Amino acid sequence: MTRELSQPPGSPFHPANIPGSPFHAAPGSPFVAPIAAASPFHAPNPAGAASPSPYHNLLADNPTLAATTKSANIVWHEGDVSREERQQYVGQKGATIWFTGLSASGKSTIASALEQHLLHNGVTTYRLDGDNVRFGLNKNLGFSAEDRTENIRRISEVAKLFADAAVIALTSFISPYRADRDSARELHEKAGLPFVEVFVDVPIEVAEQRDPKGLYKKARAGLIKGFTGIDDPYEAPEKAELHIRSDLEEVAVSVKRITDYLVEKGYITLKA
Ligand SMILES: Nc1ncnc2c1ncn2[C@@H]1O[C@H](COP(=O)(O)OP(=O)(O)O)[C@@H](O)[C@H]1O
Ligand SMILES: [Mg+2]
Repeated sequence: MTRELSQPPGSPFHPANIPGSPFHAAPGSPFVAPIAAASPFHAPNPAGAASPSPYHNLLADNPTLAATTKSANIVWHEGDVSREERQQYVGQKGATIWFTGLSASGKSTIASALEQHLLHNGVTTYRLDGDNVRFGLNKNLGFSAEDRTENIRRISEVAKLFADAAVIALTSFISPYRADRDSARELHEKAGLPFVEVFVDVPIEVAEQRDPKGLYKKARAGLIKGFTGIDDPYEAPEKAELHIRSDLEEVAVSVKRITDYLVEKGYITLKA
């Protein structure tokens, strides 16, 4: 208790900020949270709509979704925490920063540097990286057009969950097909979550010359089939929020440009 009380008032660990603590939202405290009838800690749904969430009656209201969802008898269970309430307690908003570009364009390099920069400045962020995700969640997917689409669909959904959890999700996937990226964007927009597409652009000759994993060499030798830029298309974004020429710009400059954009849009506040 002593340790708890030693927390500064603004800290999320201060007793007045911990639901369930006898100090939580004491009347007259600057930490009073909105309290609704249903639960002592429940903030009213800010939308105040009859339908409490965009997911209410999901299948009934959406024939396309009903047709593409295998399970019929599922009903969205709305929680007791509104997005605004979550953001207030976590102390930040969520968003997805979607890196796209050729293999070796620099997506992972820039995303990793950005991840570190944001974390060191008090922003909670998590990076979903192409190859890493294929070791786990997407280990059953290959590189056919169908599998690439499914790869991106799953990542979009996972990134959306992170963003909904008030985390800045960074995704670095080639994501070569425009329609797939647009689906990812639409998924976020429908859920009211920011989606920032970052096109990491280099001429293919530069990517091929970098070839940090030796993949272009293998693709040219015919050892890899369906390699983006060689024998599978890369559809460049037409409406990316940010365009980075990684052959003309230092990593640190790219990181700063993305950070500045996120601050300007009000998606993040640097704390350090
Ligand atoms: N300005 C830059 N931005 C990003 N990467 C760069 C830059 N300049 C050189 N590189 C190099 O290019 C390579 C990019 O590889 P990587 O980040 O793995 O690409 P991707 O994730 O897009 O496949 C790395 O070896 C990196 O050091
Ligand atoms: Mg990568």
